[in-house]
Amino acid sequence: MVQQRDRHATKKYRGSFQGALQAAVAGVKGTVRFKAPLKEYTSFHIGGLADVLVEPVDEENVVRLVAQAQSRKLPMFVLGGTNLLIRDKGIRGLAVSLAQLRAVREEPGSVLYAEGGVGMPTLIGYAVRRSLAGLEWAAGIPGTVAGCVVMNAGTRLGEMKNSVKAVRVVSPKGALIDCPARKIEFGYRRAKLPAGIIVGVWLQLKPGVRSDIERIVKDYLHYRRDTQPLTLPSAGCVFKNPPNDSAGQLVESAGLKGARIGDAQVSEKHANFIVNRGNASAKDVLALIKRVRTQVARKTGVKLELELKVVGQA
Ligand code: EPU
Repeated sequence: MVQQRDRHATKKYRGSFQGALQAAVAGVKGTVRFKAPLKEYTSFHIGGLADVLVEPVDEENVVRLVAQAQSRKLPMFVLGGTNLLIRDKGIRGLAVSLAQLRAVREEPGSVLYAEGGVGMPTLIGYAVRRSLAGLEWAAGIPGTVAGCVVMNAGTRLGEMKNSVKAVRVVSPKGALIDCPARKIEFGYRRAKLPAGIIVGVWLQLKPGVRSDIERIVKDYLHYRRDTQPLTLPSAGCVFKNPPNDSAGQLVESAGLKGARIGDAQVSEKHANFIVNRGNASAKDVLALIKRVRTQVARKTGVKLELELKVVGQA
């Protein structure tokens, strides 16, 4: 990923930072919003402003944007994951959304190519209609396909690494590179990818029976609806499951279900979710995370590790 280089990057520019931003987005086809409220772009409905938010219309315009931003050394952050908390002072430089890169096509050999902004629910729907199996475990995961690759999204039943065949990346210098899965190092909820922005993913699936695939997807969706707070804004699971343990169970056993700071609350339904009950700030969420970690460590001896990615300025 093109990393956000926070405060230092903006200092260099002083008066001309705004000019550098204008130049970076010049001629890029797509939506461009200065001072964009990031809460509108995250599943948590939390986050300050981005200096500028860009939604390029296609991969060619991602290339142009990256090249123009790179030559001005502007920091860039790519939205797309849902396991994301953006701090209250937002993101300096460019925030990029791939929401307009949403084409999917089938290729020979049960392969799907999805552009980076395709939502997992859309992708699963497409796979079901083509009778292609392999992504059922991801039913109900809300992020984009690129976001899911970046963090090797997964559940007990499967993970991205089992299906990724290759990715297409726009390098930090603005070159398009196709990278096969064998060159990607996948770990638990993380993937070591070539630097840049993932604009497309090839997935190797298997021919299956449509009604069987559909039934598994439906059962899984029901399970998630029954056990997770899907109707309230959240960022999915907050903590990684410790080896052979369950973060949700640990948080519940520490007596924290329903614990609340401001509008941030440990879900009553699944204790590894923090939900936004209205107008939660990132500060509320971080204070609640701290309380949960401290209390779980005190009561169970386990130090919970964040799955949630925290970015932006405090
Ligand atoms: N549990 C509790 N209390 C709770 C929540 C869970 O006791 O408040 C217990 C459950 O009863 C169950 C066990 O913990 O015995 C595991 O719970 P669950 O089946 O809900 O799975 P999980 O391990 O908590 C994982 C993923 C989820 C994914 C579900 C789907 C991680 C950290 N979490 O949750 O992923 O949706 O499986 O089954 O890997 C995410 O990554 O954002 C995420 C939510």
